[in-house]
Amino acid sequence: MRLRLRVACAATLALLLGASAVGADAIQEFLLRHWRQPLAPQGSPPARFSTLEASLHPEACGTCHPTQLSDWRASVHAAATGPGVAGQMVEMLESDPPSALACLRCHAPLAEQAPLVADNGALQPNPEHDGALGARGIPCAGCHVRGHERFGPPRRDGSLASAAPRETLPHNGVTRTPAFLKSEFCRGCHQFAPDGFSLNGKLLQNTYDEWKASRFARQGVQCQDCHMPDRRHRWRGIHDADMVRSGLTITARTGATRYRAGNTALVTLRVTSTRVGHAFPTYVTPRVVLSAELVDGAGQVVAGSRQEKVIGREVALDLSREAFDTRLLPGRTATLEYRMKVPGPGIRARVAVVVEPDAFYVGFFEVLLRQGAARGEAQIRQALETARRSPFSVFERELPLS
Ligand code: HEC
Ligand code: HEC
Ligand code: HEC
Ligand code: HEC
Ligand code: HEC
Repeated sequence: MRLRLRVACAATLALLLGASAVGADAIQEFLLRHWRQPLAPQGSPPARFSTLEASLHPEACGTCHPTQLSDWRASVHAAATGPGVAGQMVEMLESDPPSALACLRCHAPLAEQAPLVADNGALQPNPEHDGALGARGIPCAGCHVRGHERFGPPRRDGSLASAAPRETLPHNGVTRTPAFLKSEFCRGCHQFAPDGFSLNGKLLQNTYDEWKASRFARQGVQCQDCHMPDRRHRWRGIHDADMVRSGLTITARTGATRYRAGNTALVTLRVTSTRVGHAFPTYVTPRVVLSAELVDGAGQVVAGSRQEKVIGREVALDLSREAFDTRLLPGRTATLEYRMKVPGPGIRARVAVVVEPDAFYVGFFEVLLRQGAARGEAQIRQALETARRSPFSVFERELPLS
């Protein structure tokens, strides 16, 4: 939708301008250079590179780095040009190419992935464009390769030096820098600049700053420590039940051990954010639903007994306003206090915490299809199906009441 497109575009621009204000230490300087937007084309590979070493395709890297390749393939970063993005992109590349290119800077960041390139202010077909790479989301090279030079973290023992003369190593070895271990490495794509698009006085995307204000930043726990443990390339987040559980402490208890029919039972369901490094959830698209209902002896839900509480930041589909923001900052708790008259014997309370990671997109894609998604229609339909199937439960319990 138009509004959303202009928004993301403005935000990226602000991000680039804001970047020049960053301080002068070596890591920041490296990151400014490494993430200067738009990324420059890689240029010609060194003459001694084999075809394999010169390739920017993840499968080429995976020949020698198979663990990272198999992790990455199943990750959200590999899916960053999935049907939801690609479906909007086909139409937008014709109707509003500058906005489409702005999306690609986060969703498909290599110069070689963009079908168009700015030439003296005018957009031209990109001579470096590699169509197959374009559909691969954020490839290895998007984070690791600039001008065919490999960049990576220090060795696990902290050392930066090369074990052998670099020209004797595959791809001339690696330039190692601690910048890869820092939250700032992730910031460019996971934080809007201070003057980026905001609603109700809060930036639409604010993950880095939420982290920066948390106890995790004070304790030196970086994004990578939670999202790339043991240097794994999985980036699990709100779409993964175990990852969500790892960040929460959930309890459910009743006010009394037994209630008589006709008494009002009390059930308390508590969700505390104990190991989420930012707001839970950080983005506007997920919804987390705490619920409680009564179930009778036959396993049937007692009609009218369901109550819910939602954790999330709900915004209008055209991003014109924020309806509410009940997200949990680190350390905070959401409580559903459920009071209900117990209708008879053999009654249990069923409590649950259900995560809908793509709640916003279900509505958004429905509207997009109704308005007509043009050439993106089939992909948007597929993205809608995926979004509809995405909810999962992270907690379920039945507590006897009578
Ligand atoms: C022909 C095999 C080969 C290919 C292809 C290859 N690499 Fe490597 N890579 C190596 C070897 C061997 C090392 C170890 C070099 C060293 O110890 O300095 C390495 C090291 C690295 C490191 C540092 C790893 C560490 O131990 O800290 C990164 C990052 C890296 N490669 C990224 C890539 C990326 C990205 C691609 C694809 C664009 C790629 N490599 C393609 C063989 C390969
Ligand atoms: C080039 C831009 C870019 C960089 C750099 C980047 N990300 Fe992402 N990240 C994205 C995009 C785009 C998505 C959304 C992908 C999608 O679902 O289409 C995403 C999604 C995620 C998710 C979401 C998982 C979920 O369940 O939805 C996590 C977690 C994440 N990134 C962590 C990181 C961490 C940690 C770093 C730094 C090591 C990082 N990212 C660096 C662009 C980036
Ligand atoms: C500043 C980086 C950035 C820009 C620019 C950006 N996105 Fe994203 N996008 C993200 C991140 C990060 C996520 C994952 C959000 C999260 O879970 O925190 C995401 C998620 C999404 C998703 C949901 C995941 C999926 O694969 O279906 C869609 C759709 C999407 N973006 C479309 C777009 C479009 C269209 C544009 C351009 C109008 C755009 N984005 C611009 C960073 C960006
Ligand atoms: C979104 C950015 C991003 C992408 C995409 C990415 N990496 Fe990495 N990679 C990192 C970061 C950050 C680290 C350091 C993580 C840490 O030490 O906590 C790293 C570490 C590595 C290492 C060193 C591992 C070790 O055990 O020392 C290798 C090798 C590597 N990446 C290869 C790859 C390959 C191959 C791909 C594609 C299949 C890839 N990376 C995709 C960001 C990325
Ligand atoms: C202390 C551990 C921890 C740290 C540090 C952390 N995260 Fe997370 N992150 C989580 C957990 C747990 C989830 C799953 C729950 C959720 O979605 O909030 C998550 C989810 C996410 C998501 C999914 C989208 C959403 O709406 O929640 C993104 C994107 C993300 N993290 C990015 C980052 C980035 C970028 C950083 C660093 C600035 C970071 N995280 C730091 C634990 C952490």
